[in-house]
Order: sequence, then structure tokens, then C-alpha cells
Amino acid sequence: MNPCPIVPAPRTYRPCDGFFLLPSGGNVVRLLTKKLDSSISGEESYRLEITPDDVVLTASAPCGLFRGFQSLKQLVFLAKDGRLPCAVIEDSPRFAVRSFLLDSARHMPSVEEIFRMIDGAALFKLNRMHWHVSDDQGFRIESEVFPRLNTVGSYRDGDTFGGEKKPGRIGGYYTKEQVKEIVRYAASKYIEVVPEFDMPGHVSAILASYPELSCHGGEYCVRTEGGIFPDLLCAGKQSVMNWIVQLLDEMLPLFPSEFVHIGGDEAPKGQWYSCEDCLRLMREKGMKNAEELQQYFTLQVCDYLKSKGKRAIVWNESLKAGALPPQITVQYWLGDKKTTLEHMAGGGQVIASEMKYMYADYPFFMTPLSKTYRYDPFPHHPEAVAGVETTLWSEYITTEARLHEMAFPRIAAAAEVGWTEKTGKKYARFHRNIKRLLPLLRSMGIAAAPVRDWSGASPRALREMARFLHRTSAGKMVPRQMQNIKEEKRLARLQGFSD
Ligand code: ACM
Ligand code: ZN
Repeated sequence: MNPCPIVPAPRTYRPCDGFFLLPSGGNVVRLLTKKLDSSISGEESYRLEITPDDVVLTASAPCGLFRGFQSLKQLVFLAKDGRLPCAVIEDSPRFAVRSFLLDSARHMPSVEEIFRMIDGAALFKLNRMHWHVSDDQGFRIESEVFPRLNTVGSYRDGDTFGGEKKPGRIGGYYTKEQVKEIVRYAASKYIEVVPEFDMPGHVSAILASYPELSCHGGEYCVRTEGGIFPDLLCAGKQSVMNWIVQLLDEMLPLFPSEFVHIGGDEAPKGQWYSCEDCLRLMREKGMKNAEELQQYFTLQVCDYLKSKGKRAIVWNESLKAGALPPQITVQYWLGDKKTTLEHMAGGGQVIASEMKYMYADYPFFMTPLSKTYRYDPFPHHPEAVAGVETTLWSEYITTEARLHEMAFPRIAAAAEVGWTEKTGKKYARFHRNIKRLLPLLRSMGIAAAPVRDWSGASPRALREMARFLHRTSAGKMVPRQMQNIKEEKRLARLQGFSD
């Protein structure tokens, strides 16, 4: 028996007798026959046939040829003595979206580093990079319309992540030319870049640049630490929505994707409950609470995106006041699944990135690799699952080496969740296969986390866990969040709302 060594495991793999002899140096590209055949259904699907005489890759679209070529690249790398075992592979993805989130707001990888991440993701047939480019700790894209987003919002005064102090002016931004280069590079690997402009919360960097977008004006700073902050864009001033429209008008042309992520997570509503404009709007519209105001705000932005031919993605907290129209995609990460299930029942699509399984920034002790691998998103509603995403939040990812070991092999496990049919998954086989592919990643400049850490039980994994606990407690994230919630409830009650 000749087991399939490809990651993610293909739909079918049929080993055959014999070998195709690779040319010296292993360069199969010149010998490969590529065919387009419209009878193959699905633009990412492909058929790879290796016989003693030739290697034939067939797909209905160039994207399928590219995905099939990743399988071939792995097989060629693993071939012993220049002999490629004969086989027929017929393959197509389980879910339409296989994504990774890159957080450039907390720490900002260089363009070359992003290219390497895209290379690694492409090897495992991911097709989306969710690019988190705006948060409390920095705004990361050049803006000519709102230049203070760069002169002020792209830099913070030192770092205090996890209580560790680092002095200096920290940050930067990608020029529009660099953004285009990244989008083009990703597209050449059939990966679409979906930007995220998080709102109405996670906006300290925007408010530090333009305080008039807040409820109360005053001083804001680009945050130097992680966590959830009370800073919000004001939802009661028309001028704020006008500003968002202008920002989107400037940013959208950089991103050809049909999708734009507009965040919506972790937005404690204290500021809205103490803002004349927000309160006036809530009362005028007969809203029960500020969650309804977030829904109203979100719908305005989504409607604008729709008028531009774009579709919005929002984090699942955006549903707290009830359903959103089904053309909006919801990304589920944490909390009650009820509203997300209602969205699915109403015909909406969901991207599944449940924190316990898919957050790649958590130590292996908390989320062993096998746990990510075994993730089965919304098993009773697979038809409403657009896909899956693993997230690389970067509060504590300060170097490329760290980025690589947090991302790999986690991305490969997430890729198999997204690509391989449930019945074709087997952790022991995945573990063996991905281990054998680590030198291929290394040859691409990517050093994955060491195998002994993957279960979370190695001494190093335990030290990582201890560091994680130390950072989160030193950063006092949980007590600050509790304080935000208490304040929101107090102000809601004071204003006669039901919180
Ligand atoms: C999130 O992790 N705040 C979406
Ligand atoms: Zn307001």
C-alpha cells in the first residue's frame, strides 16, 4: 500500500504500479502536461495522473491547475531516488473559503515576510488572506485623503504588551504601491486578500488621528498594549458615516476582492450610552439598547459596500441585536452560537474560526495541533459554512521566526479542515505527512514549530504557556474588560435602556 502523502489530503488518491522517473534536479515543470477541461466541475478542482510515461494535470481553470501543482510539488519533494510513484488523484475542496488572518496592526510584517506567508499558505491550498490592517495599535495603509491616519495613527509611543516595556516610536504603514504588490502576489497564487477595517470598536488609532470621529472628542492615543478598549466611532453623527464612506472610497480600489471585512467585535458601548448624538438617534429610532445602534451602524456600512458592488463580512458580535441580511457573511469566533445559527437558517453564510480550535496565536498547550485538526465547523449546517479561517493575532508575534512557528503547521491543519472531506481525515496520517513536509517549508524560508511542541506537552510548550499566562495577567486584560462591561451596564441603566 502506498499511502497518500499530500497535505491537505485529496478527495481520492489511487496508487498505481510503477514510477515516473524525474529528470535530474527534480524539475518536473518542463515535463508536465497541463490541460484545461471544462468537464471538471469547480474552478479549484483538478485531476493529476502520474504514469511511467508522463504527468498530466487537468483542471477546468488555471486556479485548479495551480492547486494541483501544489500537490505535485509536494510529491516531487518527497520522491525518493528521483522516482515519482504512479497514482491518480482527483481532488476538490470541501469548503469554498480556506483563510488565514494576518494581523499587521499589532505588529507589522515586511512585504517580503508577507510574501513568504502567502507562499506557505498557497502550498496547502489556502485561498484567502484576511488582512487585519486597522486596530487600536495602528492603522497600516497609506491614506492620502486622511493623512493623519499615517502621521499619527500608524505609530505608537512604545509598546507595553503584556506589561513588557519597549520604548521608541513603533509602527509604520504599507504604501498603496506595496498593498497593490501584496494583492498581486497573492493573486498569482490564487489567494484573495480581504482587508479588515475594524469598526465601530478597535479604533483607537483612527480616533487618535481624528478625535472628532468619537462621541466626545478629546484626546485619544494609539494604544501600546493589547486588550479591549472603550474607544468607539460615534454612531450618532452623520459626519462619521460620511468619513467612513470617504475612507472606503479610497481603500476599496486597492482590493479587488468582492468581500470587505468591517469587524464589529469587542465594542463595549459605554461611550454611546453617554453621547448626546448616539442617545438622540437611539431614542428617535425607538431602539431598545446600544446593540441595536451597532446593528444600525453596521447596516449603513454594509449598504454602502453593497452600492459599490462589495459584500461585507462581520464578526459574530455584530448579530447581538438580531439577524443581518443573508448577503452579509458572519465570521464566528466566540460566544453564543444562537444568533449565528439563526443567520445560517436565514440563508446567510458563515466563516468558522472558533477561538478554541482555530486561533493560531494561542500556545499549543491550550490548543494542541490535533485540536485544530479535529475542528468540525457547524456539523449540522455544512451548507451554510462558507469556509474556515485560522487567525494569527500578533500582539505577541514580534519577529518573523515567531510568526512562522505560530503559523506553521497550524495553517496546514486548518487547510485540511477546510479542504478535506470529513471522512478522509485522520490525524495520525496528517501528523506523519506534515512532518515529512517540514524540510520543504524550510527550503521556502519557513521554520515551523518543532514537532515535539505540537501536542502542547513538551517542556518548551509548557514554558510558552507560562509566558502566555504571565503576559495576559500582567496586561490585566480580563479585569479591564470586566470594568468596560460594568461601565456599559451602569450607563445603560442610567439612560433608561435595558443594556
Ligand atoms: C477577535 O478575536 N476579537 C475577533
Ligand atoms: Zn456618539
